Amino acid sequence: MTQIFEELNNQHKNIVTLIHMIENQIDRVANEEMPNVSLLLDIMQYLTRYVDVSHHPTEELLIARYEQSEAPENHEVHECKLQHRQLLGLGREFLAIVEAVREEQLVERVEFERVGREFIQKQLDHIDLEEGKVFPVLKKSLNKKALKEVREELAQSKDPLFGDIVDKEYQKLYDYIIRSA
Ligand SMILES: [Fe+2]
Ligand SMILES: [Fe+2]
Repeated sequence: MTQIFEELNNQHKNIVTLIHMIENQIDRVANEEMPNVSLLLDIMQYLTRYVDVSHHPTEELLIARYEQSEAPENHEVHECKLQHRQLLGLGREFLAIVEAVREEQLVERVEFERVGREFIQKQLDHIDLEEGKVFPVLKKSLNKKALKEVREELAQSKDPLFGDIVDKEYQKLYDYIIRSA
């Protein structure tokens, strides 16, 4: 019944793929080249619409179970929840900057880079925290029954990019990922 953690780890791999694609685009900006704005928009939309509303809430359901149990308070588990809020804010901030670039508004290159790099670094640090510290604690404390109940509570939200069926909205991004794999 560790399937739920396998799924979360797989989603992490997909997120890391997207983070590296964002990094390439930030490097372009740093080199005074034009970024691929529509690619960045698709990635940021996926990260803020799907990851923030499905991946993180799944983790939070597991954390809530942990907190309801007799398990001792754990600093890293608490930190993980705080980081979800930060990532949500930073993701929206970077998405707004990318949208401003699309609208051809004046965006400072340093600002684009600063927010973009902070966002991708926090995403990577967050995944490290979860895989290195948080998931092992949750796995150890949550029994099969708790994991089964979390699974039942989960909204049936299908992954529109890496799931069985690619949503039309993300077809271009999907093709790009396949081409650059
Ligand atoms: Fe998370
Ligand atoms: Fe995660």
